[in-house]
Amino acid sequence: MTIEILSAVPELLTSPFEHSIMKRAQERGLLTIKVHHLRKWAINKHGQIDDYQYGGGAGMLIMCEPLANAIDELQQEGKFDEIIFVTPDGKRFEQKDANTLSLKNRILLICGHYKGIDQRIRDLYVTQEISIGDYVLSGGELAAAVIIDAIGRIIPGVLNDETSALTDSFQDNLLAPPVYSRPVDFRGSEVPAVLLTGDPKKVDAWRQEQALQRTKERRPDLLEKK
Ligand code: ADE
Repeated sequence: MTIEILSAVPELLTSPFEHSIMKRAQERGLLTIKVHHLRKWAINKHGQIDDYQYGGGAGMLIMCEPLANAIDELQQEGKFDEIIFVTPDGKRFEQKDANTLSLKNRILLICGHYKGIDQRIRDLYVTQEISIGDYVLSGGELAAAVIIDAIGRIIPGVLNDETSALTDSFQDNLLAPPVYSRPVDFRGSEVPAVLLTGDPKKVDAWRQEQALQRTKERRPDLLEKK
């Protein structure tokens, strides 16, 4: 899978994909990430990509031409399966969206900045608008990094233990159960005895019950979706 990103501040996107699971996904050839600097498609030699909005109002917008020219040029290599604008007024990103996107071949994420992007790019090019939550970040880059991480880790073959993505929180509209490692006794606090029985059926039943209880307490809204 190839994920490309159009950004006015590409420096924000260097480190998130250079470590851990994202690094491994790229080394295994399962994921290619290409960050494109929007200024490459600036409208003049001053590197201009933004302008005032018609009708007045504070803040600049990313203009049509740099975005349209960038997308047109990138699509000369082939069409994107999805062109996603990352924006706080988009549809809220959930695990099921990550699952669906992880099956695509080539997608583009556009990071907004300033007051956003000209509406005509949204109308003419964008196929999905995604928000990572009800708060406003200073730009779309960190949100794009979150979305790419969520997609990248579930591409088949990326995680060593294939089952570990299936038992993540949210995969079944349930939060994950508590987990324990050594020592059995940490400052008087002990690992639940059932986890030491070596009986996989009992362990599974306990985890299921704990996941349900945790979800009831913290995210009862998820149980309504089941
Ligand atoms: N850009 C700024 N805030 C954002 C958010 N919450 N989600 C996606 N993109 C954003």
